[in-house]
Amino acid sequence: MKALILAGGLGSRLRPFSHSMPKQLIPIANKPVLVHVIESLRELGATEVGVVVGDRGGKIAEALGTGAQFGVRLTYIPQEEPRGLAHGVAIARDFLGDDDFVMYLGDNMLTDGVQDIARDFLARRPAAQIVVHKVADPSEFGVAELDTEGRVLRLVEKPLEPCSDLAVTGVYFFTAAIHAAVAAIRPSARGELEITDAIQWLVERGADVQGRIYEGFWRDTGRVEDVLECNSELLKDLTSSVRGEVDAASELIGAVVIEPGARIIRSRLVGPVIVGAGSVVEDSSVGPSTTIGQDCELRSSVIEHSLVLEGAQVAGVGAVRGSVIGRQATVTSGLVPGWHRLLVGDHASVEVAA
Ligand code: TTP
Repeated sequence: MKALILAGGLGSRLRPFSHSMPKQLIPIANKPVLVHVIESLRELGATEVGVVVGDRGGKIAEALGTGAQFGVRLTYIPQEEPRGLAHGVAIARDFLGDDDFVMYLGDNMLTDGVQDIARDFLARRPAAQIVVHKVADPSEFGVAELDTEGRVLRLVEKPLEPCSDLAVTGVYFFTAAIHAAVAAIRPSARGELEITDAIQWLVERGADVQGRIYEGFWRDTGRVEDVLECNSELLKDLTSSVRGEVDAASELIGAVVIEPGARIIRSRLVGPVIVGAGSVVEDSSVGPSTTIGQDCELRSSVIEHSLVLEGAQVAGVGAVRGSVIGRQATVTSGLVPGWHRLLVGDHASVEVAA
């Protein structure tokens, strides 16, 4: 089985971070989302992987290279404009040939794996098999109606009155039957070739389209809140390892990873916490559920449930929570007591204490 990752798109919901990096490279537990995706594909035994990329494709290729270091072979497939998920399948036609494939949206994390669902697909080979997940508010998602045997009866995009509570996740299994469907559909009202329309086309023609319920943790990391939740979820499985320096005046509680070259000075770390290579944490309190990237500096600060990206600096800030601090960004206490001074980039969002 081949694999196709969709890693183009605009990423507008993840601005400002997506201004300077493709959203699929945002690190979760200090590893880009796309690396988590590739590792999941490897678990399924898919090593021939096509990656649909948009205008940020260069940065993705820089980060992932040939894929050899992850044990896969990557083929980059440029998409001039984000014209929809089904358009991604259409432009990958030469790469896919007539092979079965798993399609994985490059911003999706299904942290408990879909091996059983993949095995089921390979054994039965329905025309298509979607992965669905029970959600509280189905109206925000593509929703699937299944019969008692798991056959898909209907797919509806963001329904006002959902016919079920099963949201369509970002993992799909297809046989070559999908290509005729992709070629037959027309762009939707928002001007995109929708994969749900292609699958619905198969359903309407009586093709065998199956749905399998995934019960583990699923997030599409399209928004900052989801990125933070995903980070917390992955950190739950963290195992302590200290490869940097921790001075005698510091305290590590719970699962804490200190990467090589990191230094912890007079600080209290409450796991799960990762401190990236070369970072310095001094006179601070960090965690729980916090990931500090490489070469960051945290001084005289308190931070929890947050993500600090490479090269960022936080100094003299008493209480940071639920935050994402971008690469090389600085957050410091002000020179004039009682006043905030903000240099906030485009589409950024800041909440200050009332
Ligand atoms: P979305 O998150 O639906 O699209 P987006 O990246 O444009 O996000 P936003 O709404 O925030 O602007 O896309 C899901 C995944 O599929 C994501 O990894 C981007 C990718 N994608 C493509 O590769 N090509 C496309 O044409 C589209 C629409 C998405």
